[in-house]
Amino acid sequence: MSNSDYMTGFGNEFATEAVEGTLPQGRNSPQRPAFGLYTEQFSGTAFTAPRDHNRRSWFYRMRPSAGHGRFEHYDGNPKLLTAPITHEPFEPNRLRWDPLPLASGDVDWVDGLVTWAGNGDANAGSGIGIHLYAANRSMEDRVFFTADGELLIVPQQGALRIVTEMGVLELAPNGIGVVPRGLRFRVELDGPARGYVCENYGAPFRLPDLGPIGANGLANPRDFETPVAAYEDVDCDTEVIQKFGGRLWRTMLGHSPLDVVAWHGNNAPCRYDLSRFNTIGSISFDHPDPSIFTVLTSQTDTPGIANCDFVIFPPRWLVGEDTFRPPWFHRNVMSEFMGLIHGAYDAKSGGFAPGGASLHNRMNAHGPDKASTEAAMAAKLEPKKVDETMAFMFESVAPIRPTQAAMTNETLQQNYDDCWGGFEKAQLPE
Ligand SMILES: [Fe+2]
Repeated sequence: MSNSDYMTGFGNEFATEAVEGTLPQGRNSPQRPAFGLYTEQFSGTAFTAPRDHNRRSWFYRMRPSAGHGRFEHYDGNPKLLTAPITHEPFEPNRLRWDPLPLASGDVDWVDGLVTWAGNGDANAGSGIGIHLYAANRSMEDRVFFTADGELLIVPQQGALRIVTEMGVLELAPNGIGVVPRGLRFRVELDGPARGYVCENYGAPFRLPDLGPIGANGLANPRDFETPVAAYEDVDCDTEVIQKFGGRLWRTMLGHSPLDVVAWHGNNAPCRYDLSRFNTIGSISFDHPDPSIFTVLTSQTDTPGIANCDFVIFPPRWLVGEDTFRPPWFHRNVMSEFMGLIHGAYDAKSGGFAPGGASLHNRMNAHGPDKASTEAAMAAKLEPKKVDETMAFMFESVAPIRPTQAAMTNETLQQNYDDCWGGFEKAQLPE
């Protein structure tokens, strides 16, 4: 399988063939596809989903993927879980973690995943799982897929080469990748890798509506990249690991299942460079709600209510007059899991390191720490660039429950509340 090339656009009706003449024309399922290939439909939504939400692709592959034996339990990664998360107690406390240590020993990407939090119920098609990963070697002779959700992968350190059935997706920190539910892939590394994953059990991620912003802005569709078809013709024992219903399962094949020679459709992996985000903010006073920073959204059935918003806090100019410029104090009906890819987050002067994470659940007060607040209230308000930073948030309508692994991890900070300690009382007139 060669290096990747990409097609641009979000959710397009792509068409691509790695071997000339393998993509049928004028029909999806001809009686005899070229060269004896097999046809397979790969659904991302119900057949009957409305047209503007419908996701499906057609594969033309060397063997039907139905040709496999029983899946048996796989016990290689007991820390990879699926919601509902049941860890007790489910506490309301604000939580923050130091970065996960880099992998030690010999750990590939699928065994290096650890579920940190989650909400909803994968089997009911709602909520998200939040995983961290730390890995140091490529997956070899094994592929992975999850039937439980779509994967939004946020590398924090180290490049990932994600070899999928539909082509090769190359990711690096400050970029993200989206892998459709059920797509089989192998992750190759060129060194230690660490990052975050949102497993979206709900409606597939899509671009947010722009309302009065207009036809352009935020993440522009043409900056999303989907790999061209690429296949491997490899006859060797290959382990297939699937995540289904909260358990991991494995079966063996005598060949690589990454053998799709041509495909067309709109249910496909993609990547996006976060530096392409067209960041929009206030040019008068106050600053807009952070929804203005939404890259992708998974909507619930209630308009405007997100199962998950993927929101970033990118470099940007702050110019607001008579404005408290950091993210304000707030109590949010939505729940917020944050991570930091690089740099510093402008609401926290310390303690939130790249690779770390924080969790602020429904209605629990948070905002800038004392040092950041005092600095912002004293600052001379000249135009100022918040530079060299990239924080992000998975924001969800339902409270996000941490796992036992997260609550007992040595990276859990015991003094997070202290960053909001010692504020001076306001002095009212006598
Ligand atoms: Fe918040």
